[in-house]
Amino acid sequence: MSRTRSRRAPLLAPSILSADFSRLGAHCEEALTAGADWLHIDVMDGHFVPNITIGPLVVNALRPLARTHGALLDVHLMIEKPEVYVDAFVKAGADIVTVHVETCPHLHRVIQQIRSAGARPGITLNPATPLAALEEVITDVDLVLVMSVNPGFGGQSFIDGAMRRISRIRGMLDDARSEAFLEVDGGVNPDNAASVLQAGADVLVAGSAVFGGNESVVRNIGKLKSAF
Ligand code: DX5
Ligand code: ZN
Repeated sequence: MSRTRSRRAPLLAPSILSADFSRLGAHCEEALTAGADWLHIDVMDGHFVPNITIGPLVVNALRPLARTHGALLDVHLMIEKPEVYVDAFVKAGADIVTVHVETCPHLHRVIQQIRSAGARPGITLNPATPLAALEEVITDVDLVLVMSVNPGFGGQSFIDGAMRRISRIRGMLDDARSEAFLEVDGGVNPDNAASVLQAGADVLVAGSAVFGGNESVVRNIGKLKSAF
């Protein structure tokens, strides 16, 4: 057991990547009604990651639903040159915009750009990127996202080494007296959710564990939240 568990009440952010896109609004509404706190929106460009997903139009379409439920739209940009698209995503309704440190040679500038545009800046890093990449900006962001899979696809298995990275980042945030959220993304399920929270996470992203399988979204969320 880690000494580092967050003191904040944990939140659940379903990743819409695993939702049924033919009825995206209804599927997201099921999740929000069942107790989901945010909607996590995975934006992929086919360059930084080998998959193409969605753009600002979808964020804009989900905005009224999110506002009705008081849910934040949590946009995870897995794209090259994120600075080109930040303003469009914020205009579309993104409350949090998270960028990968690997895509930002001018990371500090992009963080400022997100905040000036009116959203909360987040940063994330791939499983093999040294945590030192966070150090210089850790007090400038509102969210740090730990990737527990290699980004690009839903439904992958949690990388065991991510657990230690969560604890280390919790330590870095606490040492910096940062109130930033610590979010974990990839392979989170009812079997590992309690350990992920114990390691220090505040926000769990879950795609297939919410929208996949044969059970209802309500039941899936119930199982995940029993770890809270
Ligand atoms: C991976 C995405 C994740 C992913 C989560 O690139 O950032 O948000 O879709 O899906 P699961 O929970 O199925 O691993
Ligand atoms: Zn994501």
